[in-house]
Amino acid sequence: MTTFANGAELADALRRHDYIADDDFATVVHLATALERPLLLEGPAGVGKTELAKALAAAGDRRLVRLQCYEGLDDSRALYEWDYAKQLLHVQMLRDRIGELLGRHTDIADASRFLADQDFGLYSEKFLSVRPLLDAVLSPEPVVLLVDEVDRTEESMEALLLEVLAERQVTIPEVGTFTARSVPWVILTSNDTRELSPALKRRCLHFHVGYPTPEREREIVTARAPEVRPDTAGKVVDLAHTLRDLPLRKSPSVSEVIDAARAATVLGDGAAEADPFTDLRDVLFSTLLKYTGDVELARGRPDGADPARVSSPAPVERATVAARPANTTTAVFRGRGGGGHGGGGRDTAVSGARR
Ligand SMILES: Nc1ncnc2c1ncn2[C@@H]1O[C@H](COP(=O)(O)OP(=O)(O)OP(=O)(O)O)[C@@H](O)[C@H]1O
Ligand SMILES: [Mg+2]
Repeated sequence: MTTFANGAELADALRRHDYIADDDFATVVHLATALERPLLLEGPAGVGKTELAKALAAAGDRRLVRLQCYEGLDDSRALYEWDYAKQLLHVQMLRDRIGELLGRHTDIADASRFLADQDFGLYSEKFLSVRPLLDAVLSPEPVVLLVDEVDRTEESMEALLLEVLAERQVTIPEVGTFTARSVPWVILTSNDTRELSPALKRRCLHFHVGYPTPEREREIVTARAPEVRPDTAGKVVDLAHTLRDLPLRKSPSVSEVIDAARAATVLGDGAAEADPFTDLRDVLFSTLLKYTGDVELARGRPDGADPARVSSPAPVERATVAARPANTTTAVFRGRGGGGHGGGGRDTAVSGARR
């Protein structure tokens, strides 16, 4: 079984699977694996929360079991469901035999009592459709369990998660209690669309994944898109960091930066201009920005100044943006360690502050 001696060793293993983690992030992930504690990752979209679980599974030689959370997720999708079709087929196949036995009971109440007393084996492990949580518990080989976007489920779902995380066991009334056959590494991710319960947080180690530093982001682009030239990667990353300083409705994510770097490579290679990047910048906005208002803001201020050279937004920009719907990503994470460019700092301020 693959384990890691420390954060640096884990970071190296992740890097071999094209995942670039800061030292403090790698240390927390290592701690979670060493202490066998669930790790809750919070942060804006597209900063590598889900990808960490995938890379960790690959680095640790474990199967990835993923529970994708959404509103309305229930036990039957998260834990298990009885396979009715299989149960029905089973009963169909037994029908003749059951008929034979029932024939001996001429009185209907008698026949009914007889049936109720029979154990047809329908409620046994064989007839379970195993869903991710039970899969992780039943797996003989240890897995990485990814509970993705846990903030999208209702709080009632957290109670079930808590039982599994804390007790490492699942109780199925008809069958009994299954205790974990191996200890999974559990990664939970959240975009912070709602506050998670203190009980859930208490059971997890917690890390805020923020936007990477420019240096780190260049490494990520190179790892994920090796065809991109280093100078192109550098320019796209610088552009993204300038944009993240603007009060946008949605800041460019790491995945969008990778897309933009790929786009710059495809478009820039054929261009004859001395600095094709400057000409491409407007085109790159379509990969980096997803709202018309944000593109307008990035293209230029009303006074014609170039936003890419503006280090802090002018008051007029703030006024324009304030009139728009709430920033779904930037507002939530700006000022919490995620909006800054200092990499993924541990979040101490998340729990209290709301949008
Ligand atoms: N540290 C990193 N190392 C390597 N690739 C990264 C890293 N961070 C982000 N990426 C890239 O960004 C993409 C998006 O990451 P991911 O899907 O994990 O984001 P996320 O934080 O889960 O976003 P969301 O909250 O929207 O689900 C990945 O597929 C990967 O290509
Ligand atoms: Mg994700």
